[in-house]
Amino acid sequence: MSMTKSAITAVILAAGKGMRMKSRLPKGMHAIAGRPMIGHVLATVAELDAADAVLVVGPDMDIVSDYARSVTPDAAIAIQHERLGTGDAVRAAESAVREDCDVVLVIFGDTPLVQSRTLKAMAAACLGEHHVAVLGFEAADPAKYGRLVLDDKEALQAIVEFKDATPEQVAITLCNGGAMAVRRADLFRLLGKLTNKNAAEEYYLTDIVGLARAEGLSCTVITADEADVQGVNSRADLAVVEAEMQKRLRLKAMEGGATLSDPETVHFCADTQLGQDVTIGQHVVFGPDVQVADNVTIKPFCHIEGTRIEEGAQVGPYARLRPGSVIGRDAHIGNFVETKKAAIEQGAKVNHLTYIGDARVGAGSNIGAGTITCNYDGFNKYFTDIGKGAFVGSNSSLVAPVKIGDGAYIGSGSVVTKDVAGDALAVTRPQQTEKAGWAARFRAAQEARKKSGSGK
Ligand code: UD1
Ligand code: MG
Repeated sequence: MSMTKSAITAVILAAGKGMRMKSRLPKGMHAIAGRPMIGHVLATVAELDAADAVLVVGPDMDIVSDYARSVTPDAAIAIQHERLGTGDAVRAAESAVREDCDVVLVIFGDTPLVQSRTLKAMAAACLGEHHVAVLGFEAADPAKYGRLVLDDKEALQAIVEFKDATPEQVAITLCNGGAMAVRRADLFRLLGKLTNKNAAEEYYLTDIVGLARAEGLSCTVITADEADVQGVNSRADLAVVEAEMQKRLRLKAMEGGATLSDPETVHFCADTQLGQDVTIGQHVVFGPDVQVADNVTIKPFCHIEGTRIEEGAQVGPYARLRPGSVIGRDAHIGNFVETKKAAIEQGAKVNHLTYIGDARVGAGSNIGAGTITCNYDGFNKYFTDIGKGAFVGSNSSLVAPVKIGDGAYIGSGSVVTKDVAGDALAVTRPQQTEKAGWAARFRAAQEARKKSGSGK
């Protein structure tokens, strides 16, 4: 073993066609907690110390490699030209795996719940006395998983794919979770010995265990919970993995100091950031890119994406915060309020039935019920700038581009099309008129008509 930190290369296999997904989108791009599946695997690999990553994709999967480059620019991309099996896919990565690397961790792009501590344990086993470490699990229903065959000393002897298993082997419940750690010095030599003489006519990565044992090398199993190795082969599997991921994210939120009134009804994104003493009510959904500071309260039934919520703010119930929203310190967003590309500054209140889009609401301003920023003319979007301490009366339309000065008042029901100076009052509705006694005369006339039978 070298004196320096041991080098690990993670080879992530994602070249499979994913036929069972019935999708035009490559399997690795299907989202779990708002992040492509492959992004979860890359994030897990990033938690390993000093690991290089090589992603193996098919020739027609630019969308996957472009995404991978955008999140981990250092990841190498290897192309598997024909889908000849998992063993062949690893071979496609050979030139991208550094010669001086100690251990290669092969991970499947369709098992996004595998945890970094498990991968670390596998790499450690492989850097120690073993040459190969396989991720195993006790399957409640072994179904089509590969079976792990142990010898009389309980050491791993071989992996047998379901399609090739004898009836006795099919009865084995210890299964292959998919990930495998192999010493760099042995991996590609063993892969060179693979054949495709099996039921699937594929080059199975799993066959290298039997080949290693035949060379007298030592193979072992590192186990994980079944939930951690759940693979995604269908949309139903995707839903199972989503549910498990949500469970983890809810737990993480609570461990970080958030109160979730009814955790199972709250849906997070993998990148949701929560401060301390955040309270989240029932049925709140977080889309991508949300940051919530300390002491924020999010009341039930909110949908929030692409938004930053600053300390002490209150949101909801029933608020929809869309991308580009910044809810300032101690600001209040109430029920049936929608914001988009909007800065709601410190202490401002937008409490009822309002749309604020492409706008600023200055600190301490109050926006009345039913206010609409009319930001779109069917072709372009325009900005509404509301200054500090302004008061916008209920049911006003602010036709952008328009600027309301600091401290200005807008009379209820106004349609504001011109800038309003600071501290001014703008009212655009018609003057109120009053006709004394009109209603009483009207009622009397109607009653009289009804009695004479002429009213229908
Ligand atoms: C594989 C294992 C099986 C294990 C199971 C765990 C083999 C032969 N079998 O079966 O023992 O129990 O995973 O989930 O390894 N891929 C490529 N190129 C290919 C074929 C596959 O990159 O030519 C990729 C796929 O994109 C996928 C991964 O390898 O990410 C696994 O392939 P998949 O076809 O899903 O294998 P399983 O049948 O699930
Ligand atoms: Mg699979």
